[in-house]
Amino acid sequence: MAAQLIQAAYLIAAILFILSLKALSSPATARRGMFMAEAGMLFAVIGALLDHRIVEYQWILAGFALGTAIGAPMAIFMPMTAMPQRIALSHAFGALAAVLVGVVKYNHELTLGTPSAGFMAAIGFEVLFGALTVTGSLMAFGKLQELIQGAPITYKGQNFVNIGLFFGTLGLFGFLIFNPSLTNLFYAMIVLGLAIGVMIVMPIGGADMPVVVSLLNSYAGLAASATGFAIDNKVLIIAGALDGASGFFLSILMSRAMNRSFANVLFGAVGAAPPPSAAGATEERTVVRYTPEDATFLLENAQSVIIVPGYGMAVAQAQHILAELGDLLTAAGSAVRYAIHPVAGRMPGHMNVLLAEADVPYDVLLEMDHINDDFANTDVVIVVGANDVVNPSARYKKDSPLYGMPILNADKARNIIILKRSLKPGFAGEDNELFYDPKTMMVFGDAKQTLTHMVQQVKKKVAA
Ligand code: TAP
Repeated sequence: MAAQLIQAAYLIAAILFILSLKALSSPATARRGMFMAEAGMLFAVIGALLDHRIVEYQWILAGFALGTAIGAPMAIFMPMTAMPQRIALSHAFGALAAVLVGVVKYNHELTLGTPSAGFMAAIGFEVLFGALTVTGSLMAFGKLQELIQGAPITYKGQNFVNIGLFFGTLGLFGFLIFNPSLTNLFYAMIVLGLAIGVMIVMPIGGADMPVVVSLLNSYAGLAASATGFAIDNKVLIIAGALDGASGFFLSILMSRAMNRSFANVLFGAVGAAPPPSAAGATEERTVVRYTPEDATFLLENAQSVIIVPGYGMAVAQAQHILAELGDLLTAAGSAVRYAIHPVAGRMPGHMNVLLAEADVPYDVLLEMDHINDDFANTDVVIVVGANDVVNPSARYKKDSPLYGMPILNADKARNIIILKRSLKPGFAGEDNELFYDPKTMMVFGDAKQTLTHMVQQVKKKVAA
């Protein structure tokens, strides 16, 4: 009876995981998707706890308490802006769990006799990919949190060493499949896996870390799937495969949005934040400083407005006041829309999540491809804490780290209002000529404060 209950719980969990992925593909249903994923995980955990092979529960309870003690504060206190590194940490923990389960299962199997080649293949895959995900994710966390140098750490012949190390370790893994009792080799493979994780992430720049995190997510999923085979747990096989496939697709989509090939992200040693290449030019050029009142005046006469949010909106937590401004302008008769660049902010969907939180209707949130041609016919573009995603040098400046990345055509609009604190470059470290465009109004200051002024101004005008 318990066995049937377990399988039913696993089946429900698997269905919920698949439906949740589908729901997560649109902002309108994303929240529902998260609830379905959480419910699926609850069913999976209940099913696992009913397993008759569990001898005692106290260690499980201890793990549950420890996991909650670490996970709950992380979820509650880590800000949205630190989400990429939080995800990297979660992957490290998940992969560590896969490695530990693999080690225990391997030792247990040895006590029963010589493990089969099939078992060894699953367990070897699990611990190898698990180990490289642990250290790779910790490296990604360190780079994103700026605990270690974000710029690529490179040396001559690095790709050769890394590829050699990886294939050498794979060779060792292959040897172990047919010689499962060589325990020292098993542990050597884990150590090599840990080393590979460090070595492969070291030469990748901070700007490419989200792609790496999503790829490591894929590895963690594959390791979990292999764990499912090793310990005969179907929901792990399914959930791991879903994780592995979705992480892989996300990595590809993110690379595409930055106009980079996958191989270029992994082996290109670019994406660093070099010092602004046009720093000298910046000092010579001047910009006129405008006030929030000037910006509001311009907006009052605008029939069409496109808002471009970026990382600075997230830092300033300006999404609510921005939405209020958008609503006021709409009520005053302007056509207001939001243009979302696929890598605006610091994680996929960053802007969508924040604007959804501020109740911006989904039909006015437009992806880059759907709105880019409309900039030329737009009266005013308001760039709120965005920089790289509107930097025209991505189109032509071959030595720019942004070169080739598709950008939002903010420069094509009739007027441009840019809200940021200074002339400092964005994530890629590239100076932005848009600031010096005669059509541009730079309004310096924290985006939330500037927008608050602007909203007050508009309200005053409406009341008058
Ligand atoms: P960025 O180019 O990073 O520019 C953000 C701007 O916000 C900065 O120039 C900063 O200028 C301004 N800012 C910061 N705090 C502010 C505040 N309180 N008020 C007003 N402005 C503030 O952002 P973006 O345009 O969104 O581009 C994203 C970049 O991150 C791209 O290069 C992308 O490749 C990279 N990236 C993306 C992801 C994903 S998946 N989304 C992940 C990692 C990296 P001031 O300091 O002058 O205010």
